[in-house]
Amino acid sequence: MESAIKVSSLSVNANKFTLLDNINFELPKGAYMAIVGPNGSGKTTLLKTLLGLNKNYSGEIEFFAQTINKNKSKIAYVPQIKTLDRTFPAIALELVLSGLKKSWSFIVGKEDRLKAYNIMEKLSISHVANRQLNELSGGELQRVYLARCLITNPSILMLDEPATGIDLVCEKSVNNIISEYNRDFNTTIIMVTHDWSAAYHHTNYTLLLNKKQVFFGESHKAFTDINLQNTFSHIGHDHGISFGLKDIVNA
Ligand SMILES: Nc1ncnc2c1ncn2[C@@H]1O[C@H](COP(=O)(O)OP(=O)(O)OP(=O)(O)O)[C@@H](O)[C@H]1O
Ligand SMILES: [Mg+2]
Repeated sequence: MESAIKVSSLSVNANKFTLLDNINFELPKGAYMAIVGPNGSGKTTLLKTLLGLNKNYSGEIEFFAQTINKNKSKIAYVPQIKTLDRTFPAIALELVLSGLKKSWSFIVGKEDRLKAYNIMEKLSISHVANRQLNELSGGELQRVYLARCLITNPSILMLDEPATGIDLVCEKSVNNIISEYNRDFNTTIIMVTHDWSAAYHHTNYTLLLNKKQVFFGESHKAFTDINLQNTFSHIGHDHGISFGLKDIVNA
């Protein structure tokens, strides 16, 4: 079984506060993992650290058995909706095409345009293809960013709450599209989600996070009462607080 992502003893500190404490997991190629945890539990921090956007960490991160610095595989990322840039002066189709890393849309061939259009159609956003980004709704914009990732055929796809801000009907289809993509292309996917049911039904691994790793393993074993209690209780504002079974037992 080829290892796609291996994280060992990963900790992240910022200004003396612990944001992530001793995270360990390994995903085989083609795995689909959900990260579930309360607000402020370090989910986005974990994705950003895996993406190399945060140098302030200890421990090891490997992609396809190569250290993060030597990694050559394509990693795509759809950020959380609140950080999406809508001021970029472009129409939706151009933003999708920009995933192909060609600087000017006029040198993009017909084939690429068709590819972009087809992906947008699949994500039910082809009707906004010619609209300016600042005219799109939050959910539409997020699907444009997802299309931009999918067009690159990444080996690893990281999604930060891709279904948040999308209405229920579309949310279902976004979850289905991501699952389908995972199956069809054997792409390794990590998705941050607040939707336990989506994690349970769509992903094969789940990481329950509350700065510490409460659980990592198969998704169908993740959502036990005790695991959820350990993940979602004792949420304090004190960053130095320790979470885990000890707190529950002593509470
Ligand atoms: N650069 C930083 N310096 C100090 N604290 C930070 C920094 N970045 C994030 N934090 C804090 O770290 C904690 C984890 O943040 P993070 O964004 O990873 O949470 P999250 O699990 O993604 O939450 P949400 O569900 O709200 O998106 C938060 O308390 C946040 O305020
Ligand atoms: Mg977040």
